[in-house]
Amino acid sequence: MSITKDILYVGVNDHQIDLFEGQYAVPNGMAYNSYVILDEKIAVMDAVDQHFGDEWLRNVEQVLDGRTPDYLVVHHMEPDHSANVARFLEVYPGAQVVSSARAFPMLKAFFGKEYEDRRIVVKEGDTLPLGRHTLHFLMAPMVHWPEVMMSYDETDKVLFSADAFGKFGALDAEDDEWGCEARRYYFGIVGKYGAQVQQVLKKAAALDIEIICALHGPVLHAPLDEYFRLYDIWSRWDVETEGVMIAYTSVYGHTEKAVKLLAEKLTALGCEKVVLNDLARCDMHEAVEDAFRYGKIVLATTTYNGDIFPFMRSFLHHLTERGFQNRKVGFIENGSWAPMAARMMKGMLENSKNLTFAENAVRIVSALSDESRAQLDALAEEMMA
Ligand code: FEO
Repeated sequence: MSITKDILYVGVNDHQIDLFEGQYAVPNGMAYNSYVILDEKIAVMDAVDQHFGDEWLRNVEQVLDGRTPDYLVVHHMEPDHSANVARFLEVYPGAQVVSSARAFPMLKAFFGKEYEDRRIVVKEGDTLPLGRHTLHFLMAPMVHWPEVMMSYDETDKVLFSADAFGKFGALDAEDDEWGCEARRYYFGIVGKYGAQVQQVLKKAAALDIEIICALHGPVLHAPLDEYFRLYDIWSRWDVETEGVMIAYTSVYGHTEKAVKLLAEKLTALGCEKVVLNDLARCDMHEAVEDAFRYGKIVLATTTYNGDIFPFMRSFLHHLTERGFQNRKVGFIENGSWAPMAARMMKGMLENSKNLTFAENAVRIVSALSDESRAQLDALAEEMMA
């Protein structure tokens, strides 16, 4: 597949994977993207996951058409991209490896050597002339690991963006629009590092970019404004969509009944979007994505073993470790003898920035009562105020 006249796609699709990075469900598989720039000098951009070395090397060989590569540019050392670096350097002993200073100790850790005799260490602003094309390197630490860099080819106006702008899903899978799986990917993988993403977006704004070649997901072509707009919102933890997301757990159905009643009340009050996530049954990372998408969130769970129900604890941990902030938060607790879940959930969020907690909490003692129904009315009105 040609991206431009000189830039060719040599990546692979993974339909064998069950969990990406050991935790994210990928029903549409995953793509590990790699590209070749054919010029006077030839650069191969990144490798692929360990299970696809043969296929990737065949793809590379095919586009090389008898030539040999001069450079392997390693933008990111996470094994979904780097697992075949050592193998490539064995197959092509004349190629040099080009990466950031932080990448080489990782190469040593993964493969036992730092390639001192055949490496080019690049830093911010360095360039690599290939002939008609010149790569300009931009450091992008913590998007998503510390060694990450991107590169920009001003000839074809292409940004090789590493993990940024990636998404879940193989390229040959039927898929919905980019935003859904790109959002789940962003908040799952990079969400904690919004400040670092903002730094990269500032650098990108100074470039004339027509094509983004990420390490996952489709190649993105101009107009790119919508992709940049979403990345800007996500990396500032801003609200993308107005609405209320209700995350809940329910042991015997009483808490579920309460959140469904709350959803009805919110809709009746004019809330355009109410999203319910049963944390025990939904994809946890869809729920995480929704928490960062909507401006208001209601958390409903039971007191359990002197703590909160485990799925809610896990959910809140996913949020706080990703810098959850800038949201309005309401609480519903259920407990049959010593309800304390609302206090405990609030406690888990106490270090999160710029959260507004609803004053009207709902306490269910085993099952809904007139009193807790009235509290739901008050909470609905406060969330819509
Ligand atoms: Fe796709 Fe952070 O590796």
